[in-house]
Amino acid sequence: MKQPVRIAVTGAAGGISYSLLFKIAAGEVLGSDQPVILQLLEITPAMDALRGVAMELQDCAYPLLQGVVLSDDPTVAFKDADYAFLVGARPRGPGMERKDLLEANAAIFSVQGKALNDVASRQVKVLVVGNPANTNALIAARNAPDLDPTQFTAMTRLDHNRAVGLAANKTGFATPTINRVTIWGNHSVTQVPDLYHADVAGEEAVDAVGEDWYKNTFIETVQKRGAAIIDARGASSSASAAQAAIDHMRDWALGTYEGDWVSMAIPSDGSYGVAKGIIYSFPVRCAFGRYEIVQGLEINDFIAGKMKASEQELIEERDAVASLLPAETEAHLEN
Ligand code: NAI
Repeated sequence: MKQPVRIAVTGAAGGISYSLLFKIAAGEVLGSDQPVILQLLEITPAMDALRGVAMELQDCAYPLLQGVVLSDDPTVAFKDADYAFLVGARPRGPGMERKDLLEANAAIFSVQGKALNDVASRQVKVLVVGNPANTNALIAARNAPDLDPTQFTAMTRLDHNRAVGLAANKTGFATPTINRVTIWGNHSVTQVPDLYHADVAGEEAVDAVGEDWYKNTFIETVQKRGAAIIDARGASSSASAAQAAIDHMRDWALGTYEGDWVSMAIPSDGSYGVAKGIIYSFPVRCAFGRYEIVQGLEINDFIAGKMKASEQELIEERDAVASLLPAETEAHLEN
């Protein structure tokens, strides 16, 4: 039997975690031969609810689940963590401006970045799900000077999966026949769902769905899918978000399929002219626990304009929390 790996999850009594934890414990991230220890973080008032979730985890009698740690202290929950899903975040309250939301989350993610820096495994892989996910990931990374910034990522996989699902629904082909879809930019309505490099059952995806429909319906449907689900369900997407988080971490750890790629928000290295350092979603291929940006794609003017707008939004988000960001260390500047 392999040694267990430690997987930290924040916001562990919340909606997404109520799906996510059970998938992790069932072996969906690292496979059915990898034991796991779950290390769950919540805010103090939610600890009772968290104990209830832990009872249910125990009641599933998962063969791979070797331990569950509950805490309201990030230095306990992140201790020796090999993987960290940062799901908990401060939601937008009544009368809260965008800047207030960014600042409230900056406070949370700076504490969590420092704790990861101090106690997590030196190889920890971090996925930020809690919104505004890209900028929260930037804040966590900047507060973890001893870790490599590339260890911090944010989730655009739900947007990627939504794009694949929508193209499958439109064409009638199964999702495994749809390859090389890309989400560029921020996990927000400025995100850019790009089908120009994708194909559906061997045909160029834009032709398969029709370019008018792609430009006038597809893009906006993917961008606004979160709001559509809230309108319909009266609650935000949690099962699909949990599945996307599993997919993101599994592919990062175990690799992407030959001939395909996935979308991950990662620290920009300047590829495609995107400002260095911001956490921007790119097409990536993963192997051996590492990701690499897919290079050399031709970007047409239609997509390039949208990519710039999303980049601009992320620069504005970064600038709004600039006073709370520690100066970049040399290790960070090299990246
Ligand atoms: P939720 O409100 O049901 O649960 C959030 C949980 O986080 C709560 O139990 C809360 O007590 C906890 N929490 C708050 N601050 C915390 C802190 N400092 N430390 C630890 N726990 C903390 O929300 P839900 O539906 O689970 O969503 C979580 C986040 O994920 C939200 O920010 C949501 O906007 C975001 N999200 C991101 C998506 C993406 O694609 N990147 C998709 C869907 C949701």
